[in-house]
Amino acid sequence: MTAVGIDAIEIWTGKLQLDLPNTFAPAKDQDPGYYTEGLGLETSSFPDTYEDIVTMGANAAKRLMDRKGLVPDDVGRIDVATESAFDNSKPVSTYIAGCLEKVYEGDFHHANKGERKFACVAGTQSIDDAYNWIRAGRNRGRSALVVATDTALYARGDPGEATQGAGAVAMLVSEEPSLVELSTEQGYGSADETDFLKPNQQFPSVDGKRSMQVYLARMREAVEDFESVAWDMHPEDFAYIPFHTPFPGMVRKAGLLGYRHTIRDTEIEDELADEIGRQPREAEYDDREAYEEAIRGYMDELKDTDAYRDWYRRVIEPTLNLSRRVGNWYTGSVHVARASALAHAAENDRDVTGEKLLVGSYGSGAQAEIHAETVQEGWREEIEALSIDDQLERRYDVSYDEYETVHDAHNHEMDRELEEFTTPEGEFVHVGWGRMSERKYEYVE
Ligand code: CAA
Repeated sequence: MTAVGIDAIEIWTGKLQLDLPNTFAPAKDQDPGYYTEGLGLETSSFPDTYEDIVTMGANAAKRLMDRKGLVPDDVGRIDVATESAFDNSKPVSTYIAGCLEKVYEGDFHHANKGERKFACVAGTQSIDDAYNWIRAGRNRGRSALVVATDTALYARGDPGEATQGAGAVAMLVSEEPSLVELSTEQGYGSADETDFLKPNQQFPSVDGKRSMQVYLARMREAVEDFESVAWDMHPEDFAYIPFHTPFPGMVRKAGLLGYRHTIRDTEIEDELADEIGRQPREAEYDDREAYEEAIRGYMDELKDTDAYRDWYRRVIEPTLNLSRRVGNWYTGSVHVARASALAHAAENDRDVTGEKLLVGSYGSGAQAEIHAETVQEGWREEIEALSIDDQLERRYDVSYDEYETVHDAHNHEMDRELEEFTTPEGEFVHVGWGRMSERKYEYVE
């Protein structure tokens, strides 16, 4: 069977940076350790006044098309995943195609365009759609352009404000991919939940603590579902495990849960038995509550063992390097985590060709999805072509007052005009609105 997967990836960050321990924490009268240690965040990316989900998505897509030497005819689908859309009818993909048509010969008139919504898991769902379209033989040799783009902003004063971010990830899904092949096997954990939602409002309503519990519960279900169609996983089966990363502290919890689950009945559990005992089994307890308490106790001890710490340092920690510097990008977040892990392998001269990743995506509302990926021969060239480190270095570092004014400028309910902080160059910019309230974009040389 021909391999299908992600051929190329490009990342575009919002051009402003908010320093969480040094700018945000003092303004909020908080301990900087809450950000760096507790949440695991250093800075977040923020959009400049002329940036939005369309400009960031189109800029990432243009970089990808330029680097791969693509023309519009090579693309048979444009799927945009976002939870920051500003229109209930016209999809963001039409705006992005319109931007790209300003700079390329030809057009995307024969490409299927859409917009995917299921909170942060929609980026992975768009990859699924592309995968299925190719597997069904409907692609006529063409590839799919998947763009995950979000301005993950919270109302000022909301606890989620600490985890904001803005950026886009463009991915090309193709036959014979250069980066990763996707497994056919998938696992889902999905339930009607009220943890994080935006009922026709720009900023989310969030039940923060509940959202963390729901993330872990749905992820566990997805892992079990994946194992039922794939194999009983072992922690050493994977070079890296990129998870959806609303903030690195969340992944600390997911990583521990995953490790506990996958060491069960393995030599690792046996080796740890002298130190912390064996994992509690449900049958040994009178009721579920007692069992869950025993599991929590076991996990508390497990997280301090050398075996777990070493695994976490190798398999999980490298997936968080970018996230620490950019915050939550919602639909793009798990794809940033994958790129971060592979960049770590390249920087450390580790050849991961043929090795496996386990990818854990999550969207509030709520659904988790698990699938495996096999790293392809061209991975190093693809990852080394990324310019995200340079982009991050070039971000304009806002003061707290500037942060407040730019947050207001992006607030749809406020009519605040603001000079941009950075000068656009070789990119798409938002320039205003047309007669039907449609957004207008231009390409700046
Ligand atoms: N030094 C070191 N650590 C500190 C600290 C300090 N001074 N102060 C607090 N901490 C630690 C806490 O102990 C805690 O760590 P543990 O969880 O390991 O115990 C951590 O920092 C976070 O502290 P709190 O739990 O007190 O944080 P909070 O309740 O104020 O806010 C949040 C956390 C609820 C997640 C909030 O940021 C939020 O609402 N975020 C938006 C929702 C979200 O991201 N949810 C995640 C799951 S849902 C999802 O994934 C979808 C999505 O993208 C939104």
